Amino acid sequence: MITIEKNPVSLLPQTDLTAPVFGKIHTDHLFVAEYKNGTWHEGKIIPFQHLSLSPFALALHYAQSVFEGMKAFNTADGRTYVFRPEDHHTRLTRSMQRMCMPEIPKSLFLEAVSTFVHLEKEWIPSAQGGALYLRPLVFASEARVGVKIAEEYLFLIMACPTVPMYSKPLSVKVETQYARAAEGGTGNAKCAGNYGAAFYPTHLAQQEGFDQVIWTDAKTHSFIEESGTMNVFAVINGVLTTPPVSGTILEGITRDTILSIAKRMNIPTEERKISVEELESGFKNGSITEIFGTGTAAAVIPIQKVSIDGRTYSPEGEYSIMNQLGSTLQSIRSGTLEDTQHWMVFVD
Ligand SMILES: Cc1ncc(COP(=O)(O)O)c(C=O)c1O
Repeated sequence: MITIEKNPVSLLPQTDLTAPVFGKIHTDHLFVAEYKNGTWHEGKIIPFQHLSLSPFALALHYAQSVFEGMKAFNTADGRTYVFRPEDHHTRLTRSMQRMCMPEIPKSLFLEAVSTFVHLEKEWIPSAQGGALYLRPLVFASEARVGVKIAEEYLFLIMACPTVPMYSKPLSVKVETQYARAAEGGTGNAKCAGNYGAAFYPTHLAQQEGFDQVIWTDAKTHSFIEESGTMNVFAVINGVLTTPPVSGTILEGITRDTILSIAKRMNIPTEERKISVEELESGFKNGSITEIFGTGTAAAVIPIQKVSIDGRTYSPEGEYSIMNQLGSTLQSIRSGTLEDTQHWMVFVD
C-alpha cells in the first residue's frame, strides 16, 4: 500500500499550463521507494522536495542509474490514462538487469505510476496532445567508495506537464566518427551513461548547425542506428523501414507502436539494416520519400535534411505515411479511435 502525504501548498493555481517549457516545471509530488536489506520496500508519495544524498552515493561515481520516459493523457471524454506502462516496466527491467540493479516488481511499478498519476492528473494541460511526462528513475544511493554493485537504491517518479511543441523538421548529420553503442555494450539499456556519452558528438554536430546526429554502428560506421532520443524510420520504395533492435539501439515504445499501427493500416513494413550507402543512393534516386524520428517526447517528427560526409539530402515526398501514422496515434491517444491493443491503462 502506497502512503500519500499531500503537498499542503499546490503550485498548480499559479502555474500557466498553456505553454510549459518541457522539463522545467514539476508537479506537486514525488514518489519514493527504497531498496535496502535485499528487498524493495513499499513506496510513498510525498510533497516534491530535494533529496538528501551522500556525496559517496555510488550512482554519482559509477553510473548505476536508469530511467524511463512515459506519458499520461486525458481522453476526449475526460478519463486519465498512462500509455503502455507495462512495456515501460519491461524495458526498465531490461535496463536494470544490464546495470546489475535489483528488479522492481511489476506490481510496485504499476501501482506507483497509477497512484501518482491519479494524484497529479489536474496537471495534465487541456490543450490537444497535452500530457504529463513521467520520469521514473532508479539509482544506486548506497554511500561508499568502491567499484562494486550497490546494495541500496532509490526508485523515484517525477512528472512535468507538457504540450505538443511546434516541432520544426530536423536537420541531422550521419555520424561516422563517434559511436553511441557497441555490440555487447549498453545501447539497448536506458541508462544514464549512454546520454552523457552522447553529448560531445551531438554538441559538435550542433556547432555545425545540425539539430542531432544519426548514429551508425560502432564497428564499421556503415549502418544507421538511431538519433538523439528517437528511433529512425525511412520510407524506401513505399516500405516503412527501420533498423532492427539488435542490442545497440533503444527499443522505443513509440517505434513499436508505429510499426503495429502501420501493420494494422496495411502499410508494408520491414525491420532491417539500412546502410549509409543505401540512404545516400535512395535520396539521389528518389526511392526514399520520407525519413522521420519517433519517441515519447515528440511522437513522430520529420527529418528534413540529412548530411552524409558533408553532402546534404532532403527527401522529396509529402510525408503522407508519417502523417497518417502520426494522426492515427493521436486519435488512439485522444480516445477517438479504438485502442484495440490495450495500450491505454486508465487510472480512474
Ligand atoms: C536513445 C533513445 N532512443 C529512442 C527513444 C525513443 O523511445 P520511446 O519511443 O520509448 O520514447 C528514446 C526515448 O526515450 C531514447 O532515449
